Amino acid sequence: VEKVKIAILGFGNVGTGVWKILKENKKEIMKRSNYEIEVTKILVKHIDKRRDITVSNEILTDNIDDIINDESIKIVVELIGGKDDAKEYMIRAMRAKKHIVTANKLVIANWSKELFKIAEQENVLFYYEASVAGGIPIIREINESLTANRIEQIIGIVNGTTNYILSKMTIDGISFHEALKEAQEKGYAEADPTSDVDGFDAVYKLAIMASLSFGTKVDQACIYREGIRNISNIDIACAKKFGYTIKLLAIAKEENHKLELRVHPTLVPSTHPLANVNDVFNAILIKGNAVGELMLYGKGAGDLPTGSAVVGDIISILRNNVKPSDISDLNDDLDFKEVINSEENQSEFYIRLNINDKAGVLGDIATILGKNDVSIISVTKDVNHQAKAPLAFITHKSSEKNITISLEKIKLLENVNSIESILRIESFD
Ligand SMILES: NC(=O)c1ccc[n+]([C@@H]2O[C@H](COP(=O)([O-])OP(=O)(O)OC[C@H]3O[C@@H](n4cnc5c(N)ncnc54)[C@H](OP(=O)(O)O)[C@@H]3O)[C@@H](O)[C@H]2O)c1
Repeated sequence: VEKVKIAILGFGNVGTGVWKILKENKKEIMKRSNYEIEVTKILVKHIDKRRDITVSNEILTDNIDDIINDESIKIVVELIGGKDDAKEYMIRAMRAKKHIVTANKLVIANWSKELFKIAEQENVLFYYEASVAGGIPIIREINESLTANRIEQIIGIVNGTTNYILSKMTIDGISFHEALKEAQEKGYAEADPTSDVDGFDAVYKLAIMASLSFGTKVDQACIYREGIRNISNIDIACAKKFGYTIKLLAIAKEENHKLELRVHPTLVPSTHPLANVNDVFNAILIKGNAVGELMLYGKGAGDLPTGSAVVGDIISILRNNVKPSDISDLNDDLDFKEVINSEENQSEFYIRLNINDKAGVLGDIATILGKNDVSIISVTKDVNHQAKAPLAFITHKSSEKNITISLEKIKLLENVNSIESILRIESFD
């Protein structure tokens, strides 16, 4: 068995997970890859930091040049996160003829084209399975197993932090802030939770999945984004009354060469498998024109699950069983596909208002909606004999534009105090 030397950039959550898997599964990995993997360098930022795993001083470094200039290192595994340093180090490593494995969704969502071009020029392999949904092998699924299909839809729960928060709010009835605090205490959410809670993380992952699935380069700026900060326990309770569970979904659909791309809290029928994906788990539903519907479920984060995807990529490189052309789909002859403005998207909607509980108000609301081609399926009103009452209803399929126009008028009605929430419903048709 030949030896191969690799370097890991970053020794945090995922970096240490990779280290543990390489050690724990050494025998199996050797058998499957035909190589004995030796980690000869690990790049960190704070060289003197106390670490749970001790590695020899010769291995740890805070100087990237030690890795780039070492010709014996064949694979560089980027797990430092962030954008500028990570991108620069990967480019330099490729220029030095090293293969790359990364878990960095931020860099892939923004600069994949540029990076894959360099990989092609330098004839090195570039893998990024862990960048979407951690341990779930979604990239391989799209790039290999499903290549016989035209992918029509991808709908996923791809952010563990927000799924944890929404699950806790739904199951335990705690508030958004309490659930966020719990997520932070458990290490699921960052001190600054913006990237997760406001939907950015899910947008990066959707951009990567949609680009691969639809053979186009999806600019993440074209993805409609709405986070979960404004979801209240009242909405969760009202949704439940209508038979729905609220989840943050990443949705990509293609119809007639046009793309629908959005990340937002969504009412999912409570009987649908996605409604029952709880805690930090992720799940992705894919609809292919040959295979039909397919769902992947698993851990979207964590040291070992993410490490599993990373080490799988390392082994793929060693086996060299997939050529770079698999990913260069994103390089050349890309189809241009129009992204539909979210205002034009047709959905069923859930709307909650605060009204004065007076006779006739419901009729006035229904009249305005009807004039704008919006029809109501079902209404729920909290009969608590208070003057101000929440009124929630769900509509048949309408465009967001028609909903917005109606609500502008409804807002002006004497007995309507405020519009509290507008959420989309996914009917999975
Ligand atoms: N955590 C997950 O479950 C998960 C899941 C999927 C994907 N990912 C992705 O995996 C990557 C790593 O995430 P993580 O959770 O492992 O991060 P982390 O725990 O914060 O670890 C980052 C590591 O990189 C080092 N580092 C940071 N910036 C550096 C720089 N400029 N130069 C040199 N070293 C630097 C840090 O060094 P020190 O230790 O010295 O501070 C640390 O060891 C990210 O791209 C993330 O999006 C993570």
